[in-house]
Amino acid sequence: MRASLALPLRTDRLVLRPYTTTDVEPTLDYYRNPAVSRFLLTEPFGFEDAQQAVERRRQRTHPTQPGDTLALVVENDGRVVGDVVLELLGERASMGEIGWCFHPRYAGRGFATEAASALLDLAFGHYELHRVKAQMDARNTASARLCERLGMTKEAHLRQDWWSKDEWTDTLVYAVLSEEWKVG
Ligand SMILES: CC(C)(COP(=O)(O)OP(=O)(O)OC[C@H]1O[C@@H](n2cnc3c(N)ncnc32)[C@H](O)[C@@H]1OP(=O)(O)O)[C@@H](O)C(=O)NCCC(=O)NCCS
Repeated sequence: MRASLALPLRTDRLVLRPYTTTDVEPTLDYYRNPAVSRFLLTEPFGFEDAQQAVERRRQRTHPTQPGDTLALVVENDGRVVGDVVLELLGERASMGEIGWCFHPRYAGRGFATEAASALLDLAFGHYELHRVKAQMDARNTASARLCERLGMTKEAHLRQDWWSKDEWTDTLVYAVLSEEWKVG
Protein backbone atom coordinates (compact mmCIF):
# COMPACT_ATOMS: atom_id res chain seq x y z
CA MET A 1 0.00 0.00 0.00
CA ARG A 2 1.46 3.38 -1.07
CA ALA A 3 1.67 6.21 1.47
CA SER A 4 -0.70 9.06 0.62
CA LEU A 5 0.72 11.61 -1.77
CA ALA A 6 1.84 14.95 -0.32
CA LEU A 7 0.91 17.80 -2.65
CA PRO A 8 1.94 20.32 -3.84
CA LEU A 9 5.29 19.27 -5.27
CA ARG A 10 7.96 21.96 -5.23
CA THR A 11 11.03 22.39 -7.41
CA ASP A 12 13.57 25.23 -7.56
CA ARG A 13 11.25 27.48 -9.58
CA LEU A 14 7.90 25.72 -9.70
CA VAL A 15 4.94 24.57 -7.67
CA LEU A 16 2.98 21.57 -9.02
CA ARG A 17 -0.46 21.53 -7.40
CA PRO A 18 -3.96 20.05 -7.91
CA TYR A 19 -6.49 22.00 -9.98
CA THR A 20 -8.96 24.38 -8.33
CA THR A 21 -12.05 26.13 -9.74
CA THR A 22 -9.94 29.29 -10.22
CA ASP A 23 -7.91 27.54 -12.96
CA VAL A 24 -10.54 27.88 -15.72
CA GLU A 25 -9.31 31.25 -17.06
CA PRO A 26 -5.58 30.44 -16.86
CA THR A 27 -6.23 27.08 -18.57
CA LEU A 28 -8.28 28.73 -21.30
CA ASP A 29 -5.52 31.28 -21.79
CA TYR A 30 -3.23 28.71 -23.40
CA TYR A 31 -5.54 25.89 -24.51
CA ARG A 32 -7.50 28.31 -26.73
CA ASN A 33 -4.35 28.86 -28.80
CA PRO A 34 -4.37 26.76 -32.04
CA ALA A 35 -0.57 26.50 -31.89
CA VAL A 36 -0.85 24.84 -28.46
CA SER A 37 -3.52 22.33 -29.52
CA ARG A 38 -1.93 21.56 -32.91
CA PHE A 39 -0.57 18.21 -31.73
CA LEU A 40 -3.05 17.57 -28.91
CA LEU A 41 -6.06 15.32 -29.38
CA THR A 42 -8.36 18.27 -28.67
CA GLU A 43 -9.34 21.35 -30.69
CA PRO A 44 -8.61 24.85 -29.30
CA PHE A 45 -10.68 25.31 -26.13
CA GLY A 46 -13.62 27.64 -25.66
CA PHE A 47 -14.71 28.71 -22.16
CA GLU A 48 -16.94 25.65 -21.63
CA ASP A 49 -14.17 23.27 -22.72
CA ALA A 50 -11.85 24.84 -20.15
CA GLN A 51 -14.55 24.61 -17.46
CA GLN A 52 -15.15 20.92 -18.20
CA ALA A 53 -11.44 20.11 -18.38
CA VAL A 54 -10.76 21.79 -15.03
CA GLU A 55 -13.76 20.03 -13.46
CA ARG A 56 -12.48 16.63 -14.66
CA ARG A 57 -8.89 17.37 -13.66
CA ARG A 58 -9.90 18.58 -10.17
CA GLN A 59 -10.83 14.97 -9.35
CA ARG A 60 -7.50 13.61 -10.62
CA THR A 61 -5.41 13.75 -7.48
CA HIS A 62 -5.09 10.18 -6.20
CA PRO A 63 -4.57 7.64 -8.97
CA THR A 64 -4.60 4.03 -7.80
CA GLN A 65 -5.95 1.88 -10.66
CA PRO A 66 -4.76 1.44 -14.27
CA GLY A 67 -6.26 4.29 -16.28
CA ASP A 68 -6.34 6.69 -13.29
CA THR A 69 -4.45 9.94 -13.72
CA LEU A 70 -2.71 12.56 -11.62
CA ALA A 71 -3.25 16.02 -13.12
CA LEU A 72 -1.25 18.95 -11.79
CA VAL A 73 -1.15 22.66 -12.59
CA VAL A 74 2.36 24.12 -12.83
CA GLU A 75 2.97 27.58 -11.34
CA ASN A 76 5.95 29.91 -11.38
CA ASP A 77 5.81 32.98 -9.14
CA GLY A 78 2.08 32.41 -8.57
CA ARG A 79 1.25 32.33 -12.31
CA VAL A 80 -0.01 29.23 -14.14
CA VAL A 81 2.62 28.36 -16.75
CA GLY A 82 1.36 24.91 -17.80
CA ASP A 83 0.24 21.50 -16.64
CA VAL A 84 1.48 17.93 -16.43
CA VAL A 85 -0.27 14.59 -16.19
CA LEU A 86 0.71 11.06 -15.17
CA GLU A 87 -1.52 8.12 -16.08
CA LEU A 88 -1.08 4.72 -14.42
CA LEU A 89 -0.95 1.83 -16.87
CA GLY A 90 -0.58 -1.95 -16.92
CA GLU A 91 -2.42 -4.70 -15.08
CA ARG A 92 -0.88 -3.82 -11.73
CA ALA A 93 -0.61 -0.07 -12.41
CA SER A 94 3.16 -0.48 -12.41
CA MET A 95 3.76 1.55 -15.56
CA GLY A 96 2.80 5.07 -16.56
CA GLU A 97 2.44 7.62 -19.31
CA ILE A 98 3.47 11.22 -18.83
CA GLY A 99 2.12 14.27 -20.66
CA TRP A 100 2.57 18.03 -20.64
CA CYS A 101 1.19 21.28 -22.00
CA PHE A 102 2.71 24.70 -21.39
CA HIS A 103 1.75 28.30 -22.15
CA PRO A 104 3.86 29.55 -25.10
CA ARG A 105 4.43 32.77 -23.15
CA TYR A 106 6.68 30.77 -20.81
CA ALA A 107 8.40 28.57 -23.44
CA GLY A 108 12.16 28.21 -23.68
CA ARG A 109 12.92 28.61 -19.96
CA GLY A 110 13.10 24.94 -19.02
CA PHE A 111 9.86 24.99 -17.02
CA ALA A 112 8.43 21.93 -18.82
CA THR A 113 11.69 20.03 -18.28
CA GLU A 114 11.73 20.93 -14.57
CA ALA A 115 8.07 19.99 -14.05
CA ALA A 116 8.30 16.73 -16.00
CA SER A 117 11.42 15.82 -14.08
CA ALA A 118 9.56 16.31 -10.77
CA LEU A 119 6.71 14.16 -12.08
CA LEU A 120 9.14 11.39 -13.07
CA ASP A 121 10.65 11.59 -9.56
CA LEU A 122 7.14 10.99 -8.27
CA ALA A 123 6.46 8.22 -10.78
CA PHE A 124 9.56 6.24 -9.81
CA GLY A 125 9.85 7.37 -6.16
CA HIS A 126 6.31 7.52 -4.78
CA TYR A 127 4.44 5.31 -7.27
CA GLU A 128 7.40 2.93 -7.70
CA LEU A 129 6.63 2.52 -11.39
CA HIS A 130 8.74 0.27 -13.53
CA ARG A 131 8.50 2.23 -16.79
CA VAL A 132 7.12 5.56 -17.95
CA LYS A 133 6.44 6.42 -21.58
CA ALA A 134 5.54 9.53 -23.52
CA GLN A 135 3.82 9.45 -26.91
CA MET A 136 3.48 12.28 -29.36
CA ASP A 137 2.72 13.24 -32.93
CA ALA A 138 6.02 12.72 -34.75
CA ARG A 139 5.90 16.33 -35.97
CA ASN A 140 5.91 17.59 -32.37
CA THR A 141 9.63 18.31 -32.25
CA ALA A 142 9.37 20.47 -29.09
CA SER A 143 7.88 17.53 -27.21
CA ALA A 144 10.45 15.08 -28.60
CA ARG A 145 13.27 17.45 -27.57
CA LEU A 146 11.80 17.56 -24.08
CA CYS A 147 11.90 13.73 -23.90
CA GLU A 148 15.53 13.81 -25.03
CA ARG A 149 16.40 16.44 -22.38
CA LEU A 150 14.79 14.18 -19.75
CA GLY A 151 17.02 11.32 -20.90
CA MET A 152 14.14 9.22 -22.23
CA THR A 153 14.92 6.73 -25.01
CA LYS A 154 13.22 6.93 -28.39
CA GLU A 155 11.80 3.42 -28.80
CA ALA A 156 9.53 3.70 -31.79
CA HIS A 157 8.40 5.72 -34.73
CA LEU A 158 4.99 4.31 -35.62
CA ARG A 159 3.89 5.11 -39.14
CA GLN A 160 0.41 6.53 -39.71
CA ASP A 161 -1.02 4.71 -36.68
CA TRP A 162 -3.32 7.50 -35.45
CA TRP A 163 -6.20 9.33 -37.14
CA SER A 164 -6.03 12.88 -35.87
CA LYS A 165 -7.69 16.03 -37.14
CA ASP A 166 -8.64 14.56 -40.52
CA GLU A 167 -5.37 12.85 -41.34
CA TRP A 168 -3.25 9.80 -40.55
CA THR A 169 -0.36 10.80 -38.31
CA ASP A 170 2.89 9.16 -37.19
CA THR A 171 3.58 8.62 -33.48
CA LEU A 172 6.86 8.70 -31.54
CA VAL A 173 7.20 6.59 -28.40
CA TYR A 174 9.78 7.56 -25.79
CA ALA A 175 10.29 5.75 -22.47
CA VAL A 176 12.45 5.63 -19.36
CA LEU A 177 12.85 2.68 -16.96
CA SER A 178 13.10 2.94 -13.19
CA GLU A 179 16.69 1.65 -13.23
CA GLU A 180 17.63 4.50 -15.59
CA TRP A 181 16.07 7.28 -13.50
CA LYS A 182 17.87 8.77 -10.53
CA VAL A 183 15.19 10.19 -8.21
CA GLY A 184 16.37 13.72 -7.37
C1 LIG B 1 6.17 20.42 -25.49
C2 LIG B 1 6.41 21.73 -24.75
C3 LIG B 1 5.99 21.54 -23.28
C4 LIG B 1 7.90 22.08 -24.80
O1 LIG B 1 8.10 23.38 -24.28
P1 LIG B 1 9.58 24.03 -24.19
O2 LIG B 1 9.42 25.45 -23.85
O3 LIG B 1 10.33 23.67 -25.44
O4 LIG B 1 10.24 23.19 -23.00
P2 LIG B 1 10.97 23.74 -21.68
O5 LIG B 1 10.05 24.60 -20.90
O6 LIG B 1 11.53 22.56 -21.00
O7 LIG B 1 12.12 24.66 -22.26
C5 LIG B 1 13.19 24.08 -23.00
C6 LIG B 1 13.92 25.13 -23.80
O8 LIG B 1 14.38 26.12 -22.89
C7 LIG B 1 15.80 26.11 -22.86
N1 LIG B 1 16.17 26.27 -21.44
C8 LIG B 1 16.44 27.48 -20.88
N2 LIG B 1 16.67 27.30 -19.56
C9 LIG B 1 16.56 25.98 -19.30
C10 LIG B 1 16.69 25.20 -18.12
N3 LIG B 1 16.96 25.76 -16.95
N4 LIG B 1 16.47 23.86 -18.21
C11 LIG B 1 16.17 23.27 -19.37
N5 LIG B 1 16.03 23.98 -20.53
C12 LIG B 1 16.23 25.32 -20.50
C13 LIG B 1 16.22 24.79 -23.48
O9 LIG B 1 17.49 24.88 -24.09
C14 LIG B 1 15.14 24.58 -24.51
O10 LIG B 1 15.38 25.40 -25.61
P3 LIG B 1 15.21 24.86 -27.13
O11 LIG B 1 13.74 24.70 -27.37
O12 LIG B 1 15.79 25.96 -27.96
O13 LIG B 1 15.92 23.56 -27.23
C15 LIG B 1 5.59 22.90 -25.39
O14 LIG B 1 6.02 23.07 -26.71
C16 LIG B 1 4.08 22.67 -25.39
O15 LIG B 1 3.43 22.76 -24.36
N6 LIG B 1 3.50 22.40 -26.58
C17 LIG B 1 2.06 22.35 -26.75
C18 LIG B 1 1.41 21.17 -26.09
C19 LIG B 1 1.95 19.86 -26.57
O16 LIG B 1 2.19 19.65 -27.75
N7 LIG B 1 2.10 18.92 -25.61
C20 LIG B 1 2.64 17.61 -25.88
C21 LIG B 1 1.65 16.68 -26.41
S1 LIG B 1 2.40 15.09 -26.70
